[in-house]
Amino acid sequence: MIGGGFMLFMASSCKHEGIPADQFPEVCFQTEVLPIFQNSCGTTGCHSSGGGHGYNFTDYSGIMKAITAGNADKSKAYQAITSTFQLMPPNNALPIDKRTTIRLWIEQGAKETTCGSTGSAVTTKSGTLWACYDRDIQPILMSSCAVSGCHNATTHKDGVDFSSYAKTLERIKPGNPGTSPLYNSITAKQNSDNFMPPAPYSPLSKAAIDTIYSWIKRGGLNEECASPCDTTGAINYTSHIQSIIELDCVSCHGANNPSGGIKLLTASDVQTVAKSGKLLGALNRKSGYKAMPPDYALSTCDVRQVELWINQGYN
Ligand code: HEC
Repeated sequence: MIGGGFMLFMASSCKHEGIPADQFPEVCFQTEVLPIFQNSCGTTGCHSSGGGHGYNFTDYSGIMKAITAGNADKSKAYQAITSTFQLMPPNNALPIDKRTTIRLWIEQGAKETTCGSTGSAVTTKSGTLWACYDRDIQPILMSSCAVSGCHNATTHKDGVDFSSYAKTLERIKPGNPGTSPLYNSITAKQNSDNFMPPAPYSPLSKAAIDTIYSWIKRGGLNEECASPCDTTGAINYTSHIQSIIELDCVSCHGANNPSGGIKLLTASDVQTVAKSGKLLGALNRKSGYKAMPPDYALSTCDVRQVELWINQGYN
């Protein structure tokens, strides 16, 4: 569970900061997309080869029945994996890297691309790794480049500033590490003029360099790595729901003068509101209900947990 303002950002973090999908390395259907569908959707009892629940997600032609090539937002399969209402897979949201892979693949035309054993856009020099700006890149840049006297917002030595995503974007060519000044400087010959960080700072580790490589290669997105939403197993109030309510609701629905006359302090308070149908209506921002919280939507994962808590009988 993460704080509210952050959620708002997460909810919109699938966008590609204006970089068109065709500028990304081509996503390989065979090795990148098909396994996600097969393992997460096409399993027995779900959308398997018999066409369970109207869909067969075990091969290309079956998958294409739920895809509008070139438009992820219009694709039923993409809508389902990003829905806050009828999320698929029902018990476990796909992590953001998989959702983004599917989105990119659709926007690149949803072709039945095959590739060699190494041909994968997510493959990095040192293996497969999905690097996200906030988790993987920003900390490296903050600790090694955007330091005082160097490339922070105040000093921006030589006009170079690595203190924000927007500024960092000026130093990379999305999709192409080899022509990205950032990557070139950290891989230049040590002690050459171009080499960064200069002595007495330590050179970046190989892992850090590879991480930056893969991030640029994959488009240099401003994305967050959402931790996979774990909605497996029993959902209960104290371990899953309470923190959501405390962080996102109690400021207005607390003991004193609760908004709308709705108090959300205890499990039984929340249960009462849930039974009226208003809780899910409000969280899912459905028409006929006041969208709650008013200023931002809860993450898909949080809403799903509340849904499961209700379905499982308010434990
Ligand atoms: C910034 C203040 C604020 C926050 C935060 C907030 N609410 Fe509300 N909530 C309100 C107000 C104000 C109303 C009354 C709206 C009205 O009737 O116009 C309301 C009404 C509601 C209602 C009734 C909705 C309906 O359609 O009748 C529910 C249910 C609700 N809130 C749940 C929540 C939940 C759950 C959270 C946390 C996830 C939350 N609220 C967070 C201010 C807030």
